[in-house]
Amino acid sequence: MTVTSIFKAEPLHPEFGASLTGVDLKGDLTPEIVEAMHAAIDEYSLVVFPGQFLDDNGQLRVTRALGEPEAEHVTLGNTGRVVYFGTIGNVDPDGTKRGNTDRKVFFQTGNNMWHSDSSFREVPSYVSIMSVHEVPDEGGETLFVSQRAAYERLPAAKQAEIDPLIAVHDYVFSRTKVHPEAVSPSHAASLPPVRQKMVRTNPRTGRRNFYVGSHARVVDGWEDAPSRALIEGLLEEAIGEEHIYSHRWQPGELVIWDNRCLLHRGVGYDADKYRRYMRQTRVTGAGNTLSE
Ligand SMILES: [Fe+2]
Repeated sequence: MTVTSIFKAEPLHPEFGASLTGVDLKGDLTPEIVEAMHAAIDEYSLVVFPGQFLDDNGQLRVTRALGEPEAEHVTLGNTGRVVYFGTIGNVDPDGTKRGNTDRKVFFQTGNNMWHSDSSFREVPSYVSIMSVHEVPDEGGETLFVSQRAAYERLPAAKQAEIDPLIAVHDYVFSRTKVHPEAVSPSHAASLPPVRQKMVRTNPRTGRRNFYVGSHARVVDGWEDAPSRALIEGLLEEAIGEEHIYSHRWQPGELVIWDNRCLLHRGVGYDADKYRRYMRQTRVTGAGNTLSE
């Protein structure tokens, strides 16, 4: 099964990303279509399906087709309830808009740091899935970079140095940079720091990438200063201007990205002036990265 026997693929950036057309994701999700989606994720890391217009039910169907939906951690940590959807933007599901000074909108600015979704969880996510409903007329893009392309650019000696390392990922560390009270006590208690491999290998293609981002606090067993120098140096390698793909969201799109190897960040938008409503689900990964 190849991607192009099911989808027409148009590249989005020289290093990663493709726009995939030719299949209505509201239709029957056959084993061949699902397999082609997994293969596309392995190959392109970021896949955009324009014009799908999936509601929550349709999005959850695609999510389940790709694996186990991940319980959204903010609701889980604060209330113990399992929900699969998070809203990205400033519009509530009942249509109410929040402005720039709203607490929820402000705390979402933590997403403007380069990160991989759920890297702070014991089992981090495989992919995030976004269904796009409303977007601002200006701003609100999301930037993506490939830690696979970046790893492949590193000199062999640097690759050998980082290959055996383990990083500690810590949500409280990254989010309290936004505000000291950005994480409630119960939410913090639900997300203790976790150890993740610094270099991951795609199980089907064998291609390797480093795995850092804003949640990576320290290299396991290292002092803070050399840890920060290493982690920030890897990040710098990944985020050079020519390596960034900036995605301008379009209503109706379904977008899937591979959290195992991509980093992304938001660029902000004027929440007083514009509405932004996107629904996100995630598929949980195969296990803790140390067992990969
Ligand atoms: Fe994110």
